[in-house]
Amino acid sequence: MSKEVLLDKSIMIVSETDMKGNILYANNDCCKIAGYTKEELIGQPQNIVRHADMPKIAFKGLWDTVLAGKTWNGIVKNKTKHGDYYWVNATAYPVVKSDGSHRLISVRKMPTKAEIAWAEDLYKQLRKEEY
Ligand SMILES: Cc1cc2nc3c(=O)[nH]c(=O)nc-3n(C[C@H](O)[C@H](O)[C@H](O)COP(=O)(O)O)c2cc1C
Repeated sequence: MSKEVLLDKSIMIVSETDMKGNILYANNDCCKIAGYTKEELIGQPQNIVRHADMPKIAFKGLWDTVLAGKTWNGIVKNKTKHGDYYWVNATAYPVVKSDGSHRLISVRKMPTKAEIAWAEDLYKQLRKEEY
């Protein structure tokens, strides 16, 4: 049975990707919560933590928003290396580095119980509509 990995308020999960979503940087909390080493995460696509309960349309919203140069915020259910799951309140946004290269950043914090309940209901509905 998969278990929920609970975040606490001190956790801040940060990753940086290239414009295709390949991970270039992951902070310690990112590795600790997802159960991977830094070496295992760097170079992998960000969907390495994708949970099957997440509807496709949620990520379409994320990608459309960041590629339009804007900031996206949403509640995301992610999967750990060991098959457990964790909910995050994620904020993703594009940046231009000092060398001119474009990157995407995501910062994830502990969501509230109400945000999780809202997202669970919404995603259940959206998944039904996918079939
Ligand atoms: C900066 C950034 C952070 C992302 N973080 C996550 C994440 O935490 N979990 C996740 O499932 N997808 C995340 N994504 C979206 C993935 O790139 C991907 O679109 C998603 O996992 C759906 O996988 P699929 O492309 O195989 O359908 C992120 C994308 C970007 C650009």
